[in-house]
Amino acid sequence: MTELSELPPLSKPVAFPQDRTCPFHPPTAYDPLRTARPLSRVTLYDGRTAWAVTGHDTARALLADPRLSTDRTRPGYPATSPRFAALLDRRAALLNVDDPEHHAQRRMLVANFTLKRAAALRPAIQRIVDERIDAMLAQGPSAELVSAFALPVPSTVICELLGVPYADHEFFEEQSRRMLRSRVPEEVVDARERLDVYLGALIDRKAAGPPGDGVLDVLVHERLRDGTVDREGAIALAVILLVAGHETTANMISLGTYTLLRHPDRLAELRADPALLPAAVEELMRMLSIADGLLRLATEDIEVGGTTIRAGDGVVFSTSVINRDETAYPEPDTLDWHRSARHHVAFGFGIHQCLGQNLARAELEIALGTLFARLPGLRLAIPAEDARWKPGDTIQGMLELPVTW
Ligand code: HEM
Repeated sequence: MTELSELPPLSKPVAFPQDRTCPFHPPTAYDPLRTARPLSRVTLYDGRTAWAVTGHDTARALLADPRLSTDRTRPGYPATSPRFAALLDRRAALLNVDDPEHHAQRRMLVANFTLKRAAALRPAIQRIVDERIDAMLAQGPSAELVSAFALPVPSTVICELLGVPYADHEFFEEQSRRMLRSRVPEEVVDARERLDVYLGALIDRKAAGPPGDGVLDVLVHERLRDGTVDREGAIALAVILLVAGHETTANMISLGTYTLLRHPDRLAELRADPALLPAAVEELMRMLSIADGLLRLATEDIEVGGTTIRAGDGVVFSTSVINRDETAYPEPDTLDWHRSARHHVAFGFGIHQCLGQNLARAELEIALGTLFARLPGLRLAIPAEDARWKPGDTIQGMLELPVTW
């Protein structure tokens, strides 16, 4: 058990993570973290103590600090659940790799995720969104929104972008779900292995055939062939792109929809002025902070306003708390399309800042904008308090969302 060197004035460490009491607010149990910015201590599931970064400026400075590593194979790397611990020794790509290796990997892919590329994908995203809404209308007037819309939209988009057959979606969505949500470590490892085998076979098939135009086709025909990446490395990249590419955005669509339905005034404002949509997406990203608990390990001592994070200490960034720092966002618990929310850390910050953020923004604008425009009567089909959301130890989102219109 690692004990932290120095502790800020917070009497008792808060357990991290915890379940949200309302899906669009940080758990009320995190309130002590909100009153003790910029740094607190938290207890992880295994009894270890870690630093929790909770101040906005401090978070951005530390997320950009090379003395904090994301290499989860380093001894003492913090884990927020047994599931996470089960994958510590797996081959990682991008997110769990430090520079200079990280930089080399990111450089291979970045051209596929620029603002320009995301803009070029908008017609395809619109088509995919419209097809899903057509199907909902054909079967309506009610649906379970996660399975009918929130999940299939980003899943189809990332398949088309990467060159993964959408016909296999049930398989990879199920393995992603097991990897991100199972509480049984063996199941988590099994899910990752199945994804590795599946994507390995896909990579081999692509290598044996003519090049297609998917991101994985280019990876295989150019980078694998010239030795920039080996087969295992290509699989690790494919896993993170496929999983991060659909799970996160799906959660934002489901939770974003629920949040808008629970804020009818804000929804009415948005409907009256669709030009507010980009700002609304940013504000929803801030407010919902669905990836809540970014992990790092200090590799050197780091001074933070008179406190020292020692080499070997684990560090957790609670994005939901950071994005509610009132010095950065006045009245932080209020949804407000007119504030400037764009410097939130819901996509992270620094070298690991979300590679897919331009794509995610385009998907969210089109998915939410089109959903509420084409289904003007959209409402919950259950009492709001009966809605079920995901537990605190995974990416936040709705488990299911029965709606009618
Ligand atoms: C609304 C949806 C999304 C959210 C909230 C989100 C959130 C995040 C966050 C917080 C990080 C940084 C994690 C850290 O620093 O520890 C990250 C990294 C990453 N995201 Fe996203 N993401 C989203 C959508 C996507 C999409 C659509 C893709 C598409 C491939 C994607 C791919 C990645 C990758 C590859 C990284 C690692 C980047 C690196 O280490 O250089 N994400 N994401």
